[in-house]
Amino acid sequence: MERTFSIIKPDAVAKHGIGPVLALIEKGGLRVVAGRVTRLSRTQAEAFYAVHKERPFFSSLCDFMTSGPVFVSVLEGENAIARYREVLGATDPAKAAPGTVRAAFGTDVEKNAAHGSDGPDTARVEISFFFAGFELA
Ligand code: RTP
Ligand code: MG
Repeated sequence: MERTFSIIKPDAVAKHGIGPVLALIEKGGLRVVAGRVTRLSRTQAEAFYAVHKERPFFSSLCDFMTSGPVFVSVLEGENAIARYREVLGATDPAKAAPGTVRAAFGTDVEKNAAHGSDGPDTARVEISFFFAGFELA
């Protein structure tokens, strides 16, 4: 069993996508072990995406991620990290396979509906960024 971290981003939340995205997550064989609606501060967004701070899109990405409420969650399953990235589809929604979260709810390469951790180390760091151990079912 593996755990990964998910953010349903402001664009998908604004499209009433929380329910449908959770349905795709569960249909993909993942179990939601913790979750809540929250809103990222600028400081949180910059810290969360610190690996991208030298990229030209960093400031715009932080503007977007703080533009409205998000749904943060922890997902569990066999190969959860890779499995969730399959459920998400390609970073650019235009290239995401039909039936994926980003194909259904993404707008463009930045406003792409949801985030999933890219490896075990980042998953651990990202989960503990938003959740305390006692909150994980
Ligand atoms: P994520 O971290 O959100 O799950 O997405 P990812 O691994 O598929 O993509 P990553 O390269 O980690 O990029 C993080 C987020 O930055 C925004 N982005 N904008 N304007 C651009 O060219 C661009 N490229 C990436 C997206 O919101 C992407 O999910
Ligand atoms: Mg990433």
